[in-house]
Amino acid sequence: MHFGLYEGYVKNTNLLSEQLLEMTQKKKAAATNSAYSEVKRHLGFEYGGMVLHEYYFGNMAPKGKGNMSGQLKHGLEESFGSLDAWKTDFVAVGGMRGVGWSVLYQDPLAGQLSNHWIELHHQGVPSGFKPILVMDVWEHAFLLDYKPSERSKYIEAFFSNIDWDVVNRCFSSSAAVRPAA
Ligand SMILES: [Fe+2]
Repeated sequence: MHFGLYEGYVKNTNLLSEQLLEMTQKKKAAATNSAYSEVKRHLGFEYGGMVLHEYYFGNMAPKGKGNMSGQLKHGLEESFGSLDAWKTDFVAVGGMRGVGWSVLYQDPLAGQLSNHWIELHHQGVPSGFKPILVMDVWEHAFLLDYKPSERSKYIEAFFSNIDWDVVNRCFSSSAAVRPAA
């Protein structure tokens, strides 16, 4: 079911991209062209749905793989005070009402780590930040296995199925150094 939805995002991203290119080539790329505006506005949703699912599928492995690296642990402690504080916050974001994503991001300039709520697939994405750990909390991510009220059980299961080797690689410890002002 999840791969089927992903396929739809890929298909629509390609379709909208082609439509936009065609409009541009036919000189119809104008703010006054409502068809152009509509497609352009929708592109972020489809693109986000595609890309976030790629990160989400990529950072999971059956029954989990590897362990969190010492460097990432250190980075999380620097940014959140403790590992527990990070996890509590990440889980709280994932439990928020609505459909979206809980994402641990790293600011590539400051190295700082922060958890974000991405509404739908595209609202609240911090520009340029790098996804480190991505968790889908749209209902389709857990409704086949859990009741609607059991999102927390899904989140718990997600934590047992993280591919830490992938997550560790996404994190850059070298970025976590900001020159003194
Ligand atoms: Fe999903």
